[in-house]
Amino acid sequence: MGHLHNRNIIIGVTGGIAAYKIAELIRLLRGDGAAVRIIMSQGAQAFVTPLTLQSLSGFPVHTELLDETAEMAMGHIELARWADAFVVAPATADSLARLAAGRADDLLTTTALATPAPVFVAPAMNQQMWKNPATATNIQILTGRGITIIGPDAGEQACGDVGQGRLTEPAQISAAISAHFPNRALEGRRVVISAGPTREPLDPVRYISNHSSGKMGFALAQAAAEAGAETILISGPVTLDTPKGVTRVNVNTAIEMHAACLQHIKTPTELFIGSAAVADYRAEFNAPQKIKKVGDTLNVSLIRNPDIITEVAKSSSRPSLVVGFAAETENLIEHAEAKRQGKQLDVVIANDVSRADIGFNSDVNMVAWVDSAGHDVVPLTTKRNLAKLLIARCIEKLAAHCDQDEKIVNSLEDER
Ligand code: C5P
Repeated sequence: MGHLHNRNIIIGVTGGIAAYKIAELIRLLRGDGAAVRIIMSQGAQAFVTPLTLQSLSGFPVHTELLDETAEMAMGHIELARWADAFVVAPATADSLARLAAGRADDLLTTTALATPAPVFVAPAMNQQMWKNPATATNIQILTGRGITIIGPDAGEQACGDVGQGRLTEPAQISAAISAHFPNRALEGRRVVISAGPTREPLDPVRYISNHSSGKMGFALAQAAAEAGAETILISGPVTLDTPKGVTRVNVNTAIEMHAACLQHIKTPTELFIGSAAVADYRAEFNAPQKIKKVGDTLNVSLIRNPDIITEVAKSSSRPSLVVGFAAETENLIEHAEAKRQGKQLDVVIANDVSRADIGFNSDVNMVAWVDSAGHDVVPLTTKRNLAKLLIARCIEKLAAHCDQDEKIVNSLEDER
């Protein structure tokens, strides 16, 4: 389930030497889940053959506006409506001028005019042509119409010049298109996330708690909701606003959080993330009245709280993916892996809390992703970005689970 799953993208290829790079762009977009159709101008066909791009895109390449057979298969208006995004790459100086003028005398320009989809243009040309005021004016016109211009990059050119005019790398073009579409891969899926600290009362005015701010869990809930999930955020006491589209369940104690988590996973849930810093112990007796100062010492008897995530992982309604956190001060990976196995989790996100600059209360974090395949480090970034990355990885892992399940079902059917 790539980020561009179910998205239809048309690449309009025009006649520049960079046309060969479109092979890579097609591969990247398809790898991300998109269906890609190609329109080639006459000029483009002098640089790459339609057969090459047909083989890579998996669809016949569209080249003619007034071709009966092609129109019967998929007319130009139908093609324009099919697209969720239309990207002209490489866009020559001439094609920029033709798009700016609103020409409609070939299939590429006609489709660009007829499509209701967002249009992206990735120019590529000699640096002097790029600098020419005529080109600059055309770019201004296109930008003014809401068309997104990607690049061009600076560097050495095929003609031997050095300057701005190189086609932006396919990976960046693909990223610019992807960024335009929110990843809705969790549409129709349910995600339950625990966050924040718990508060364990000693008496009506005192409690035991910890420094968890809840920021990581809230950022994860926001990223899950943005990915389309029905998101339930079971939160201890924190001073954060509920992210848009998230259902928040407020709890105080570990016992309350335990009950809420087990209750909410009863509705089939794909992903559970335990990011809460649950107090391991609670006072055995919660004094009904304020405890008075008597004597130099006060003994409070503590008893173990339930391990919420372990119970979620062992539950008969276990979510497909159960992800825990491990805050460690030494031997990060070993301890995280031991926790992963001990608690029967699919993934543990490990963070080094001996570092003052990251983790608790901080806005940034650097973590290691630990699963059965090993571990790797997710570099230092904001909790917001990290949350997006972690949700994206969970989506990949869920997709891998689905493939695995399908294989099991298929092999069972084969056996029968
Ligand atoms: O054992 P430790 O507290 O280090 O494990 C951390 C992970 O376990 C986190 O995902 C945390 O949310 C979860 N946990 C829990 N219930 C507890 C203690 C920890 O769900 N009582």
